[in-house]
Amino acid sequence: MKDVSIEVHGCHEYDRTGAISEPIYLSATYRHPALGESTGYDYGRVANPTRDKLEATLSALERGERCWALSSGMAAINLVFHLLPAGSRILLSEDLYGGTVRLGEIYEMYGIEAVYIDTADAKAVEKAMTPDTKMLFIETPSNPMMRVTDIRKMADIAHKNGALLVCDNTFLSPHIQKPLTFGADIVLHSATKYLGGHNDLIAGALIVREKESAYAKRLELLIKSEGPNLTPLDSWLLLRSLKTLSLRVERQEENARRIADWLRTQAAITKVYYVGLPEHPGHELQKSQATGFGAMLSFKVKEHALVAKILSRIRLIAYAESLGGVESLLTFPLAQTHADMPKELLDRTGLDDCLMRLSVGIEDADDLIRDLDQAING
Ligand SMILES: Cc1ncc(COP(=O)(O)O)c(C=O)c1O
Repeated sequence: MKDVSIEVHGCHEYDRTGAISEPIYLSATYRHPALGESTGYDYGRVANPTRDKLEATLSALERGERCWALSSGMAAINLVFHLLPAGSRILLSEDLYGGTVRLGEIYEMYGIEAVYIDTADAKAVEKAMTPDTKMLFIETPSNPMMRVTDIRKMADIAHKNGALLVCDNTFLSPHIQKPLTFGADIVLHSATKYLGGHNDLIAGALIVREKESAYAKRLELLIKSEGPNLTPLDSWLLLRSLKTLSLRVERQEENARRIADWLRTQAAITKVYYVGLPEHPGHELQKSQATGFGAMLSFKVKEHALVAKILSRIRLIAYAESLGGVESLLTFPLAQTHADMPKELLDRTGLDDCLMRLSVGIEDADDLIRDLDQAING
């Protein structure tokens, strides 16, 4: 079945009522037929029928064998960090969501060393691997500088060195990129973003390539023991959102291309970072591992004073954190998503006080450009 059909129908099976919309099972616990017998559902933390449908749908979209729907993207990242043995090392893309860097600092207390590297440079990654490096963690395109990492090469390097490859696929969604098919072991999402798509829920997801692997069994145990699962109501909301995933991301990408083209003609903008632009250094690589370019873009204004001007003047576009929703959001990463990023990493990645990040929504592209025009040039 094609992805669009999976997104619309999920793994829905009709119950005796023939309900088209997936029923929401709120029950926290389940009646056992007899001693030693189970309907397959015992207790809501361990399994819930509505969440199960969502997990099966996300597994199918990412081409994984098992998914866990979780309370947030950070819950998903925290769980993969839990796979690291004490005293081990994790290598991460140096340009990535600031919350992941903050989590890395927390794990230092438990003897885990987090090392940041430009994963778009495969040779540098190969050189940085050591016997105690147990995980390679990438975001591609990266946040907020939009660097593209070669997933196939990262999988080779990780596996040659006995490490797991984890890919945060939040920026593209499985509709555009499926890292497990290029050798990643685990894919994760802030489902708050494109999967949810309406800026109205916080959710996360973890999907594994092999459900019988040691890491998948460990994750199963961790999730059962720690209880970070998504609620039935939020699971249903996410199932509903997935029905329009293709329409949303395709329209968002169309708008992003128009906006990137317009931004690069503006005198007040010194650089546009959008993977869909042919001059982007990762453009060709992106075409080889994804079916599109997504709708996230960053740009640099010619002087810092313009940042405050633009943020106070935009009307249709909202000045807000987060991304991936139908509403376009503009943010200033240095003070928001990446506020806790160490200075050394900011300097290395070029994330400075002139950088702005735009998550393009599904509004009319001309209206979005008009809004940016009056904010930048007015
Ligand atoms: C790329 C990426 N990964 C993970 C997260 C964390 O997700 P959540 O906010 O759902 O916990 C975010 C949040 O902005 C993100 O942008």
